[in-house]
Amino acid sequence: MIRSPAGTGVVEKGAIRSHYDLATPFYRLLWGPHIHHGLWSEEDAARPVPLVSPRAAQEHLTDTLAALGSVAAGDRLLDVGCGMGGSSIRLARRLGCRVTGITLSGVQQRWASMAARWAGVADRVAIRRADAETVQFPPDSFDVVWSVECTEHLFDKETFFRRAASWLRPGGRMAICAWLAADDADRPGPRGEVEAVCEAFLCPSLGTFADYRGWMEGAGLEVVGTEDWTTRVERTWEMCDARVKRLGLPWVARFIDRRQADFLDHFGTLLGAYRSGAMRYGAIVARRRS
Ligand SMILES: C[S@@+](CC[C@H](N)C(=O)[O-])C[C@H]1O[C@@H](n2cnc3c(N)ncnc32)[C@H](O)[C@@H]1O
Repeated sequence: MIRSPAGTGVVEKGAIRSHYDLATPFYRLLWGPHIHHGLWSEEDAARPVPLVSPRAAQEHLTDTLAALGSVAAGDRLLDVGCGMGGSSIRLARRLGCRVTGITLSGVQQRWASMAARWAGVADRVAIRRADAETVQFPPDSFDVVWSVECTEHLFDKETFFRRAASWLRPGGRMAICAWLAADDADRPGPRGEVEAVCEAFLCPSLGTFADYRGWMEGAGLEVVGTEDWTTRVERTWEMCDARVKRLGLPWVARFIDRRQADFLDHFGTLLGAYRSGAMRYGAIVARRRS
């Protein structure tokens, strides 16, 4: 695991909450209702311009993770770090899942709740403002614990996985997508690249595939699948960068809050870390032993 460097770059929970409170409208404008990478086929990702749109590629990521995690009709699903409710609403609509979404951000809580009403799934989607590191659920509450690009922001990932595993019924699944440090990133060059991403994107640390496997297995889960999607998702950052420049977002964002706009300047840092091999993007699915 690579941690955000101590000092000026130290990440605080309050800063993560403020970031999502302030930046959510920018994410919506820039990238749509899902705040996560798009997933293209290898062939499409290699084209100068992929044929599949970013929105469809984001939905494809959600659907592919749902298939890997065997998310089934009517499952009780906890969406940890639910953003604007992109996954929660799609899984409620397509599969009839009964979803509890949690987010640190009050703005996102209201946004996602409203979006669920507009989508006609308010009876199956409940969004709460809660911290995944302290929220309590009774044991065996869920068939699936789902989290797309949130565990990067958690301070004690090992404890989170232990607690989250207890919320699953025996045989329940955990389905995660995460930004990862490469297994061999703990060397001066790659370490610096990962630290720069942690600092710019408010991640206290980034784990490796091996770290996630260890945390999940230590929590009594059996890892049933891991996928490295790095080359299929990295185009996301070129596209975001082009859109940001076209829309003049850095100027608007800086006018509102300089610190919160920092991430807009660091899309190249993230893309560089994927391309140099310092970072990976992974999907990991595990099952609670019966
Ligand atoms: C990159 S966004 C991903 C949003 C959503 N999963 C999606 O794919 O559209 C990260 C999300 O994690 C949430 N988050 C970060 N730290 C959290 C915490 N400690 N507890 C709950 N949510 C958290 C943020 O509020 C935000 O909704």
